[in-house]
Amino acid sequence: MAAAAEQHMKPHAIMVPVPLQGHLIPSVELALKLASNGFTITFINTQITHSKITLARSLTGESPDDEDIFSDQRNLHGFDIRYVTLSDGFPLSFDRSRNHNEFMEGLLLAFPVIVDEFIGNLLSSDVNPPVSYLIADSFFVWPSAVAKKHCLVHISFWTEPALAFTMYYHIHLLRRHGHFDSQDNRRDAINYIPGVEAIECRDLPSYLQDSEPWSVMHRYIFKSLEDAREADFVICNTVFELESSTITALQETKPFYAIGPIFRRGSAVAADFWPETPGCGPWLDARPENSVLYISFGSLVNVGKEVIQEIAHGLLQNSKLSFLWAIRRDITGCEETKVLPVGFEDEVRGRGLVVAWCSQIEVLSHSATGGFLTHCGWNSVLESVWCEVPMLCFPLLTDQFTNRKLVVDDWKVGMNMCGGKEVGREEVAENMKRLMNDAEGLRENMKERKKTLQNALSPDGSSEKNFEQFMHDIKLKIQPKSSIST
Ligand code: UDX
Repeated sequence: MAAAAEQHMKPHAIMVPVPLQGHLIPSVELALKLASNGFTITFINTQITHSKITLARSLTGESPDDEDIFSDQRNLHGFDIRYVTLSDGFPLSFDRSRNHNEFMEGLLLAFPVIVDEFIGNLLSSDVNPPVSYLIADSFFVWPSAVAKKHCLVHISFWTEPALAFTMYYHIHLLRRHGHFDSQDNRRDAINYIPGVEAIECRDLPSYLQDSEPWSVMHRYIFKSLEDAREADFVICNTVFELESSTITALQETKPFYAIGPIFRRGSAVAADFWPETPGCGPWLDARPENSVLYISFGSLVNVGKEVIQEIAHGLLQNSKLSFLWAIRRDITGCEETKVLPVGFEDEVRGRGLVVAWCSQIEVLSHSATGGFLTHCGWNSVLESVWCEVPMLCFPLLTDQFTNRKLVVDDWKVGMNMCGGKEVGREEVAENMKRLMNDAEGLRENMKERKKTLQNALSPDGSSEKNFEQFMHDIKLKIQPKSSIST
């Protein structure tokens, strides 16, 4: 009886990650962290996400539990994570990359109905413990309405830096001052965002830089950020000390908690959409310390073939440089299989390894890896800092421009790959050389930043304290004050 009452009192959250690799990884880690702190989690993946993960696992020779990506963790630690898959409104066979706009319309219109129905059914099934919280990725358009309808506390999970959040959060100020969606089209530095000293227009998230912001993608992004404004709490995958003034200013208007870095340090839960190409570990083992340039543009962005070719020529000009290059098969966004210059792989044999997908965290952790040519996805940035690998920055989309500013201008742990938007092989070659041979200053700064991340995660560190405060505050939201222990 006592055990049943105890179970009934456990906090229970429904978690919904955006069905993209870069959003799923931190969401999985957050679910594990909450579960290890006594939460029951109902974790919702879309069926297509689940099928990608299962396919990737079967291609690497694993025999996965087809039903549940958390089963190992549940068995090992007794975590109460309940795994659910839901349709996103499209059949599995629908090509979401090729029909991107239609897919986004589906996420705007069909998916909210499906999630709403699931939550309604779950709540009316007398689920134990009862659900109190909805933790949804901030890039959804429906959570605040659904949370209100079902009387759940709405927690918005922002998987990018606070600086990107605050730019969207203050979109009305950008409009008012003529820096966004305005005839004025101002290009001077922005100096009126609370907590942000100054930011150049080129450092805004790309959707805020566009002069014609009316596509379905723009509508989706802006609507989701409007929705996140309504959240009861925002948790952010960043570290207070890295963005203190931005976070302090945000906290004046919203309960905002910096609880990062939340990233994959081992592979507790297999959640990759692609199978790992074997052989990276032994290949790196055979190479001297800090000698290898790792190149990857993450899981989402497409890169034109001409850009890939310029980078390849940059590598050819650095004829002694070792590199490991992860090129997704869908990198150019079309069927093209041959994206590298003719004869490239023969020319670099012995010093270069091209793979489709690797365990990035293992590659970055390896002592042979000395530099990272990155698109500046936020997970990649956090992982690179954690592993103390200086970055050569090549932002392409969304928050990556803002992340570049943090990496290069603010923290000084990376350098720019190109002066402007053009990618030229000479400049690429020159900057690769500088990164690999002349990065002592960056490495020194990196040590400091790594310490900041480590400290934040120590028992008395800011992120751990913020996480505890967050758990305390959300419990307060659903219980009478007298029953909360501090
Ligand atoms: C997306 C957006 O593009 C990015 O701007 C945003 O900050 C997060 O969502 P993505 O482009 O995939 O993410 O980049 P990133 O944030 O770096 O996440 C990629 C993840 O995939 C990282 O955790 C990385 O370790 C992993 N990865 C990538 C691999 O494990 N292997 C690879 O070969 C490539």
